[in-house]
Amino acid sequence: MTVPLLIDTDPGIDDALALLLALASPEVSVEAISTVAGNVPVEVATTNALRILEVARPPHRPRVARGAEAPLTRPLVTASHVHGEDGLGNIQGLLGPDRRPRYPEPQTGIEMLDGADLILEAAYRFRGELVIVALGPLTNLAIALQRDRRRLASAARVVVMGGAVAVPGNVTPGAEFNFFVDPEAAATVFEAGLPLEMVPLDVTRQAVLRRADLEARLTPPLGPVEQFLLDFTAYGFDVAEARGDGGIVLHDPLAIAVALDPSLVGFQALHVEVESEGRVARGLSLADRRPIRVESRLPANCRVALSVDAPRFLTLFLERLCRASA
Ligand code: BDR
Ligand code: CA
Repeated sequence: MTVPLLIDTDPGIDDALALLLALASPEVSVEAISTVAGNVPVEVATTNALRILEVARPPHRPRVARGAEAPLTRPLVTASHVHGEDGLGNIQGLLGPDRRPRYPEPQTGIEMLDGADLILEAAYRFRGELVIVALGPLTNLAIALQRDRRRLASAARVVVMGGAVAVPGNVTPGAEFNFFVDPEAAATVFEAGLPLEMVPLDVTRQAVLRRADLEARLTPPLGPVEQFLLDFTAYGFDVAEARGDGGIVLHDPLAIAVALDPSLVGFQALHVEVESEGRVARGLSLADRRPIRVESRLPANCRVALSVDAPRFLTLFLERLCRASA
């Protein structure tokens, strides 16, 4: 039995890698994709989700719905400096051998319902079985909670890439991007009593894809997915190397991998809250890790991944994404 998956996402280079990983994984069936404003505006994120599907051509095409175009109460902050103006490393201008755009506007359409309603519809259709993986700001999930908390709470698991527990943030000293962009949404989701699994920077920063490791796997002749991988990661590697990161940090692919195989990470059950009112602490995720008896701490509201078998994850990631040329 394959596990039905809904991916809420703002592609984004690492989101694109995450979607390709999920689509190449036999344990799951990607049933739905909801897009959200984050790395790029939601229109661009939606175009990118459709483009990824047009290149990957999965036998079972997931439903796609456009989600929130702005955080719950704040103006959108994007990350085009990390992901390129088009969110996929500026591949829009690339030409194929016939001088036509290599990645033309996607021709396939989206659902009439919005991202939050697609999430609720999937939670109902796959009652008790749906695994939701959230790879962007949590705006769509928060809206879905406002519309029907019980239905969302019927999901089997909600895996969230976001936050920083015992490490610094990546936008401010304390805050990770997805929680920083929509802290009200993140706070709402963490208070809602969902079966949450948090995949924070503590573990994702250990999951780094080096350019040489990807290129070694992609030898000609390249299929469309392999060519796409090389094209949209080139800019990400340039940015990462200029920052001294050593490669693309696989934040979102690790969250997908946790959905596929939770044994890749070590979890701790903790109480986590997200700061939505603070100024310097906007978007900070605060876990109760006080050195007191566990029973005296605030009751756990999620399982937090705090250790990871990074080599095993990277092997899985490369084997699945580069299968055709392996
Ligand atoms: C998160 O921020 C985004 O830029 C990435 O896609 C990832 O979801 C990491 O902080
Ligand atoms: Ca993302």
